[in-house]
Amino acid sequence: MNYRNKEWRNSMRLTVDYNNMMKKFVGNDGFKDVDLNEMKEAAADAFDVVAENRGKGMMGWTELPYNQKEIVEDILATAKAVRRKFKYFVVLGIGGSALGPIAVFNALCHLHYNDLAPSKRKGPKFYVEDNVDPERMAALLDVIEPEKTCFNVITKSGATSETMTQYLVINDLLTKALGDKASENIIATTDHVKGNLIKLAKQNNYKTFYIPDGVGGRFSELCPVGLLPAAVLGLDIKAMLAGAAYMDGVCNKPSIAKNPALACAVLQVAAMKRGKNVGVMMPYADSLKLMSDWYCQLWAESLGKNVTLDGEPCNVGQTPVKSLGVTDQHSQVQLYTEGPFDKVVTFLSIKNYRTEVKIPHGCEDIPDVAFLGGHTMNELIAAENRATAYALAKAGRQNYTIWLPEVNEFTLGELMYLFELQTAYAGAMFNIDTFNQPGVEAGKQATYALLGKNGYEEKRKELESATAVEEKYIV
Ligand code: PA5
Repeated sequence: MNYRNKEWRNSMRLTVDYNNMMKKFVGNDGFKDVDLNEMKEAAADAFDVVAENRGKGMMGWTELPYNQKEIVEDILATAKAVRRKFKYFVVLGIGGSALGPIAVFNALCHLHYNDLAPSKRKGPKFYVEDNVDPERMAALLDVIEPEKTCFNVITKSGATSETMTQYLVINDLLTKALGDKASENIIATTDHVKGNLIKLAKQNNYKTFYIPDGVGGRFSELCPVGLLPAAVLGLDIKAMLAGAAYMDGVCNKPSIAKNPALACAVLQVAAMKRGKNVGVMMPYADSLKLMSDWYCQLWAESLGKNVTLDGEPCNVGQTPVKSLGVTDQHSQVQLYTEGPFDKVVTFLSIKNYRTEVKIPHGCEDIPDVAFLGGHTMNELIAAENRATAYALAKAGRQNYTIWLPEVNEFTLGELMYLFELQTAYAGAMFNIDTFNQPGVEAGKQATYALLGKNGYEEKRKELESATAVEEKYIV
């Protein structure tokens, strides 16, 4: 990948086409130029808030493309050793500590990676366990050999019950199988001071990577949280960071016409203000299917807030929905086209897929099938993407397209950084704390109380004294 070459970088620039957000294309529900002009000042203010806070507080993520040179070398060396020694690599983590590694794996590795012969894979078999479903844990243990597995335990807080439960299960297994050597199969990625995982890492001498201060879970893909798993898979993490830095440079202007992340934020905020409470993320690429999961967490947890930074009640946010083109044309698009006018659809469209599949000629006596012959699947998926965007627009439904020249490490870095900036701008426009997650913490604490964690006795009493269920509402 030639990301050091300026011309190549420019050829990989992501673009945002928002024609179908405008009145001219979708009719009355669309924006007029004047509507977006009215948001110019709010957009410029949001740009300033983000620019002024770069690298400060919980905005440490803005600097990740620039400040990790040494860490990247350590990650690459560690990944090389992991690839040499282990047959399997398992991430234990949840939320922001899992969704990035999942999205990048899905986007950049073979879509049946684990089924490939070892000679056709650059790294070990790869799994991310982001749940505590006992059946899933049992299923994982059926397909891996723990003593030949490197487990990357990832938790920023070092306290999350799900991740620590998985750690307990795995550590027990490893200790029984390997005794004192169990610690060689565990890599910790966590905060450098806070939480339990760092204590365990020190006690057991685990290889440890740190999640930098100011980098929250959902903004952590471009630090060791995501970079180590990606490097283990043989992906070019320097290119990912270069893509993020490139997008940072593209987005360095306070104008909607020049800054794609700001444009996306303005379009979404303006739409939300008109009741578009649902944001559909619809990639036309299986490789980006799980990028939607990562985006949904980023958008939902960051913007779903009930109080402004000035302490005023608000209840803002937009419900993100995952959808896949063309698959969901046969499931969801009917609703998007004719249901309530409460959605904005974002397409992720690919100019050049990494492979081409020709559709052979055949069935010449059945013209309704024969017309497909001689085309490629590439043409078909592109046509279906275009047709869906057109049909939605014709039905008066706002939609816009983020174009990726192709899916690679560089463009993925661009895309993730664009979404992070878009989220930060939108949060600034709503004047909320984009980077906290009190709703998630509340659930974590209730779980601690129910499972009898010390210090949560009061919470447990509160939960137990909550109104008892009424039988009449159970059928
Ligand atoms: O974005 C967030 O902060 C959360 O979704 C966390 O990533 C998630 O709750 C997991 O937390 P931790 O990494 O502390 O285990």
